[in-house]
Amino acid sequence: MSSINYSEKIPNNVNLVNDRTLQRALEHWQPHFLQWWHEMGPTDFEKSDVYLRTAISVDAQGWANYGAVKMPDYRWGIFLADPVTDRRIGFGDAMGQPVWQQVPGEYRSVLRRLIVTQGDTEPASVEQQRLLGHTCPSLYDLRNLFQVNVEEGRHLWAMVYLLHAYFGRDGREEAEELLARHSGDADKPRILTTFNEPISDWLSFYCFTYFTDRDGKYQLKSFAESGFDPLSRTCRFMLTEEAHHMFVGETGIGRVVKRTLEVMKELGTDDPARIRAHGAVDLPTLQKYLNFWCSSSLDLFGSEISSNSAANFASGLKGRPDETQYEDHVLRSSSFKLMTPEGEQEVPMLNALNEVMRESYLKDCEIGLKRWNRQIERAGHALRLTLPSSRFRRSIGAWAGLPVDPQGKLISKEEHARRMSEWVPSEADRAFVHSLMQRVIEPGKMAGWVAPPDRGINNLPVEYEYVKLQ
Ligand SMILES: [Fe+2]
Ligand SMILES: [Fe+2]
Repeated sequence: MSSINYSEKIPNNVNLVNDRTLQRALEHWQPHFLQWWHEMGPTDFEKSDVYLRTAISVDAQGWANYGAVKMPDYRWGIFLADPVTDRRIGFGDAMGQPVWQQVPGEYRSVLRRLIVTQGDTEPASVEQQRLLGHTCPSLYDLRNLFQVNVEEGRHLWAMVYLLHAYFGRDGREEAEELLARHSGDADKPRILTTFNEPISDWLSFYCFTYFTDRDGKYQLKSFAESGFDPLSRTCRFMLTEEAHHMFVGETGIGRVVKRTLEVMKELGTDDPARIRAHGAVDLPTLQKYLNFWCSSSLDLFGSEISSNSAANFASGLKGRPDETQYEDHVLRSSSFKLMTPEGEQEVPMLNALNEVMRESYLKDCEIGLKRWNRQIERAGHALRLTLPSSRFRRSIGAWAGLPVDPQGKLISKEEHARRMSEWVPSEADRAFVHSLMQRVIEPGKMAGWVAPPDRGINNLPVEYEYVKLQ
């Protein structure tokens, strides 16, 4: 186990001190990052003490330390999972060969692009969420938001380290650009559409951490398989942090469901208008938020048929999540049955890897749905929350721009346009959800639309003052 050196300006477990040039370059980038955090990170909470976890080792057992930290003082650093002895490329045409410790020349620009695209999402989400602190439903939630934010900041560090360490001058320029693009910016937006959608309410935040951070998990898992070993090690450690982000989403939505069911019981009704009048989120509205964020996140996997992902796999750059669960790791002779608007098509498996990944992602998304539906069933209601079809509201791939309903059926354009407000949040729905966003900052108290969590952070009580506001 390699421990993390905290005595340096940039905490790290990569022996930065032995590479002066790299250390200087990163120390030059550091104040730019801090300036970005100050300008684009959470607004107005820089003086507050937040009960945050900080990575202290990359050992799965006891890797984090908890304590009160002011966010600008968070020790962002560079942490890679320990190397695996004699690690070999686990898929593609170079399967079985030793992994690369340096970037192979022929893959340089592709790898840089992959790392930049992943890196771009990390600060983007911090920017998307920067105003949320003002409407927190509790101090517990406020702390979780900030924990997610500082860790996304660290994930940016993870990608910037790779750019600086392995891509020379181009890498350093890309690292600057990662701070220059901003979510939703008209001139310099973030690279992927989902990361330009504002997140201005907490229901969206829970959905984002459930669906979009889970896309992140799948991307990281496929990079964890990479033949470029430093990328693999970086992503393996990021996954440890990422789990908490999805926990925030899953438990957040679960707490909304719980509270809504309480209100339904209290009022003896499932009438959305009466539930809303009582200050809770009716289940049909929640369903619309799920439809919106799930479909938006599905686009992040790219086109069903992709020669890029085929090439990335064949050359050993990006595997499938949990590559070892499959039998065939070369995929030169298997095919995949794909449903397109023109009917079923058989395509080479190598070209369908985005779809393979999207399918396993959707399966992972079902887990939370099952839990929430169990709550609803136990309360004696017939309604069930569902995931939209992967053809619904797509803007990339075979189904892009087609009038498809959430069940995946092609319908007329007119019906599609007319009924869209039944499927995703309308302006009125968003206005209603916004009206619920009143800030609650008394320790242990919750906003009226969300139930308290089952337990606090790190064995502390729910009533603990997780953020000491200043
Ligand atoms: Fe991340
Ligand atoms: Fe995340």
